[in-house]
Amino acid sequence: MTTTTPFAKRLLRWYNVHGRKNLPWQGTRNPYKIWVSEIMLQQTQVATVIPYYEKFILALPCVHDLAAAPVDDVLHLWTGLGYYARGRNLHVAAKLIVTEHQGHFPDTLKAWYALPGVGRSTAGAILAIAHGQRQPILDGNVKRILCRYFAIEGWPGDKAAESQLWRHAEALTPHLRVQDYTQAIMDLGAIVCRRRQPLCNQCPQRSHCAALLSDSVHVYPWSKPHKKIPIRSVAMLLLFDSKQQVLLARRPPTGLWGGLWSLPECDMNEDIDRWCRSRLGFKVEPGPPWPTFRHSFSHFHLDITPIPTHVRNTTAVMERHETVWYNVNRPDRRGLPAPVKRILEQLRVTT
Ligand code: ADE
Repeated sequence: MTTTTPFAKRLLRWYNVHGRKNLPWQGTRNPYKIWVSEIMLQQTQVATVIPYYEKFILALPCVHDLAAAPVDDVLHLWTGLGYYARGRNLHVAAKLIVTEHQGHFPDTLKAWYALPGVGRSTAGAILAIAHGQRQPILDGNVKRILCRYFAIEGWPGDKAAESQLWRHAEALTPHLRVQDYTQAIMDLGAIVCRRRQPLCNQCPQRSHCAALLSDSVHVYPWSKPHKKIPIRSVAMLLLFDSKQQVLLARRPPTGLWGGLWSLPECDMNEDIDRWCRSRLGFKVEPGPPWPTFRHSFSHFHLDITPIPTHVRNTTAVMERHETVWYNVNRPDRRGLPAPVKRILEQLRVTT
């Protein structure tokens, strides 16, 4: 058994000097903290995650607290971080850990992988960092490093390229210092082997990197085949009652912004009074729309036009969704989509 690899040796020597050692989720082997951090870091940069992570751990310091918390509290802590399915999955997984694992964290890849929101790379990272198990990881940073180091042809999201990358990741992972190695390879991707303007002259792998040796670092990793992303336009209704409270409706539990509290939406060319009468039983007077702004998702752009609308009969029968009259000057704890939060904050200033 080789306990280390030349790649790992060079990487760890670099990490000893240049690696990040003071991130808030470092210096612990607590699987709960490591799990929460890895889920937050799945699609979000370290600098953005840090304040969310600290607030989350302070509010819900262990898996029992998370499992017992109302989902609205969890989504409130997630507000602004995006990809809310991560927060919902974390909550569901915490309940499973408490009910099916008696509050003990799994220590096998298979059991971690079975929890919602935990993919193969996240499971590997948790087991490596919290349990010191020799498990490879393959997040975006590692994919980029390996695509360059081995000059891998093909978009790394493709099945063929991905399984090749997993084989390399597995072979390079050392048996010793696996916690440091796991952190080190992510740090190398974030600090040196950056997507744009990589610092190849500072890289510990520079004498062995196939892309650098063929002067083609800019070619790797191959980009995803181009697909134009569509634009959707919606009107978001700011329905005011006589006390200037705004109607929020909870979105269905799955799909976009699932479980979050949002503003009622209709098509841009809808007759708003008719729409409100038929959907909500309200008679309304729409005012002039606010300027349209764009909120982009990975798979489409959403052009949002807020329309302030006065409701004349708030006693009407509500539709089947859960709804609440929300006081923007006394915001309570509930999960809001980022653009809705922005709209409500503007109301606080202007009303
Ligand atoms: N991205 C994913 N996991 C990470 C970690 N533990 N540290 C820094 N960036 C990460």
